Order: sequence, then structure tokens, then C-alpha cells
Amino acid sequence: MDLAKVNSIREAFKRAGHAHVFRYWDELNPRSKTRLLSEAQTIDLDEINKLVARHVLIDSASELSGDKLDDLEPAPFIQNPSNGGDILRWDKAIKTGELAIRAGKVAAFCVAGGQGTRLGFNGPKGTFPVTPLTKKTLFQVFAEKIRRSSKRYDTVIHWFILTSEINHAATVQHFEFNNYFGLPLESVHFVVQGLIGAVDQKGKIILSGKDTIARTPDGHGGSLRALVRSSAIEKMEMLGVECISYFQVDNPLIRIIDPAFIGFHLEEDSELSSKMIPKAYPLEKVGHFCVQGGKTVVVEYSDMSETMQKATNSAGALHYISGSVAIHIFDRDFVARVGGGEKHAELPFHRANKKIPFIDLAGNIQNPDEPNGVKFEMFVFDALPLARNAIIIESIRADDFSPVKNSTGVDSPKSCSEDMLRSYARWLTAAGVNIEVDTSGLPLINFEISYSFAADQEDFVKQWHALSNKPHIVDGLIIEPEI
Ligand code: UD1
Repeated sequence: MDLAKVNSIREAFKRAGHAHVFRYWDELNPRSKTRLLSEAQTIDLDEINKLVARHVLIDSASELSGDKLDDLEPAPFIQNPSNGGDILRWDKAIKTGELAIRAGKVAAFCVAGGQGTRLGFNGPKGTFPVTPLTKKTLFQVFAEKIRRSSKRYDTVIHWFILTSEINHAATVQHFEFNNYFGLPLESVHFVVQGLIGAVDQKGKIILSGKDTIARTPDGHGGSLRALVRSSAIEKMEMLGVECISYFQVDNPLIRIIDPAFIGFHLEEDSELSSKMIPKAYPLEKVGHFCVQGGKTVVVEYSDMSETMQKATNSAGALHYISGSVAIHIFDRDFVARVGGGEKHAELPFHRANKKIPFIDLAGNIQNPDEPNGVKFEMFVFDALPLARNAIIIESIRADDFSPVKNSTGVDSPKSCSEDMLRSYARWLTAAGVNIEVDTSGLPLINFEISYSFAADQEDFVKQWHALSNKPHIVDGLIIEPEI
């Protein structure tokens, strides 16, 4: 171990007011010393101390709260044809989008670096089983959709996946074990996001073990700088990718490659486009698309008063109706600008109070019952006000959004699996096949349509009509591509 280097790292921590990180140094064996040093080297002390000064020592629980919401207005959006939107305009967008996909200008980007603590699942969230019958994992669902879209558009769609140091190895292992779900190896790219030190209520970096610093992923907003720092953006440029189709790992219903969405993004010359769905009920826990000072913003449900969330217009519809489903198209150069930290184009950090295990002065690990620390994260939607021509298009919930977030109830594995079954039933009905469903559209049998067979309804109808041996739709059926 290079003593001069050790001393200079320790000295930097001391100068920054975090000398306690090395409190147990003398007790550590060489392996633990190496571990602590390597973790310490990932900490940007300047960044941490700036965040502490801004968010911990002066309380600013939220960037947008209370009277800061005064001049807020609902954001305009392009209406879906099923809701009165201009069908000719949508058709034109679909053609534009399809051309871009065929030309290889679109890549998929899944953010999967989060800790997924709410679901109570021990492992990367993408390895959670979700399909109704064969229990394919979230990653397999996405892989099949991407593989099918590549085939449909006669191209290779590259897939970038954001992991963090915490779940990277287990994520890669899942792909390796499953032979990358049949995707060309060179089309799957992992991008590891940064971790940032968590601090206590006084702004001191928390030590979670004698040789371990409490670090958490820097938020999905950190995905943009991770794409730049890992050189993924350069790789995209070399591959000719111009549009990045961004989605969250928790939502298997997503139409990853959606020509209309891509087409609108290109036709409107937007740097960042988003999908909205009308909120299912006033207090649904989603962000709200709004306009503030002429800029598009997302205001989280937790930052908006109940009165505002429930407010209605003269027609009785919700005033803030646009729910953010965290589905975006990013322009590649825009990511390079924001992720590269260009002046006036950086994402802000938010603070979150959390229960963070720590080691006490007696050397015992404590698991607090109440929040004892602060973690910092960036939100990707904070890029919206920085983007030129940020546009929002209306999507249909049933076609695009049914996340797995909680272990039971709303947005749970059960509700998501049922939504998948409902979508299969709609696809079959659109193809002219009768299927018995209950009043909520849920089929009375359990079966599955492989996403390698069809990635969405339009695709399914075509594929079904082309099938030489059409199966009877019975309990336990799996509709897969013919070999
Ligand atoms: C999020 C959005 C909310 C939106 C909802 C739709 C926030 C703060 N809110 O809520 O506006 O309506 O989804 O489902 O994001 N992730 C990383 N790295 C991180 C943190 C998160 O990759 O450091 C990924 C997660 O793996 C996940 C996604 O980001 O795929 C969402 O994170 P999560 O914290 O679960 O957001 P929600 O609270 O569900």
C-alpha cells in the first residue's frame, strides 16, 4: 500500500471535515484497508460538502414546494387519437418513427440501478419474475420486446442498461446465465452509475462498517452523467444512435420501441419528449407534468398539496391530470450536454431522509428505527426545463404502464400480471379471436403471449394472421414464434 497516497486521501477527508471515516483504520487488516481506501476514492468530497451546505445544514426539504408552486400550470400535451387527437398527425409521426428505427437511430435505455427496497425483493429488480404463466423476469420481458422489434424493423436495436455497483454483478450474471435472452451479445451494454456518500443529520459521511462507507446510487438523474462518464454516449454516436428510448425497470407493459413517440420527438425537434397518462385517481402517486415560468417541469405527488392534486376544471376533469410514467425519448446530444455537466445544464440534487445502518462509537452496527441520515439523488425529469422543445404525448395506460413497485395491492406483481393478461385478451380480440373475460377485461384462463412473438397489439394482429397453425386459446397456452 502506497503510504503517501493513503496519507493524502486521509488528509483530504480531514480537511473536508470527514476524518472520522478513518476512525477504525488502525484496527483494519490489509484487505479492509484496501476496501475502505477504494470506497473513499469514489467520494467527491467537494460535491458532498456543497450538498451538505445546501440541503442539510440549511433545511430545504424540497426544491419545489409550498409557495414555489404558485405559478404552476398544467402542461399541454398531444392528445391520443382515442381521446380526440388528430389521427392523421399520429399516422405521420408513426411513419417518421418507423424510418428512424429501421435506420438504427434508436436505442433502448433501461434504468435499473435503484435499490428496489419497497418490493422487498432481495436481488436486482430486473430479475423479478413477472409474467402470468412462465414467470419470466422483467429483464427477459424487455429483452424479448427488443429482440422482436429488431426483427420487425430489420435492424439491431442496442440496449443500454443502467446498473449500480450494488447490483451490477448480479445483473450481468442474470444475463450471462440466460445467454442474453438470445440478443446479440454486442448489442447489450451495461452502464454503471455512480454512488454518492450518505450523511448524518449534521452532514457527516456515515460509516456503515469499520471499512465501509454508506453510499447510495445517485438517482436515475445520475443515469445521464453515467452515460457520458462510461463513454456510452460516444458508443451511441459511433453506432449512429440519435434517440434514446428511456424507461424504468419496474414497468413490463412499456412499449419500448414506439414509432409514434419517436416520430413526434423527431418532428417537433425535441431534445426530451415524455409520455403522460391521465391520472387514474386524484391522489395517484405519480409525478405531474406542469409548466412553470414557461418551462416544462415534473412536480412529484409528494411536493403537491392534496388540494392541488384533487383540483378540477370547469368541466369537472382533474386540473393536473398529466401523470408522468417515467417514459422519455432523449436526444443523444442533449444527454451529452446535461450528463457532461455543461454549465447551466446540470441536474440539481434532492435530499431524502432515510434509515441508514451505521457503526457506533463502540464499533457496533446499529439499524435505526427512524431516519437518521440523508441520501442525495438526482431526478431525470429535472432535465425537462433544460431541454429545447420538450413535448409530451398522451399514452394509453393499458398499453404502456403497469409497474411493479409494492409487494401487494396497487402496482404489485399481482396487479401487473393481471394487466398483462388483460392486454393479451385485447390483442386477441383485435385479431378477431373470442376470449371470455370478466367485467374488468381479465381473461378467465391463465395463458401467455411471448413478447418474442409480438411486442404490441398492432404487431400481434399481423403475427396472428400470419400464423399457419393458430392454437386454441386454452388455460396454460403459451403463444410463441413458429420456428
Ligand atoms: C418514479 C417517479 C415518478 C413516476 C413514477 C412512475 C421519481 C422520484 N419519481 O417514482 O415521477 O410517476 O416513477 O412509475 O423518480 N433508479 C436508478 N438509479 C437510482 C434510483 C432509481 O436506476 O439511483 C431507477 C430504478 O431502478 C427504477 C426507477 O429509477 O427503475 C424509478 O425509481 P423509484 O425510486 O422506484 O421511483 P418511484 O418512486 O417509483
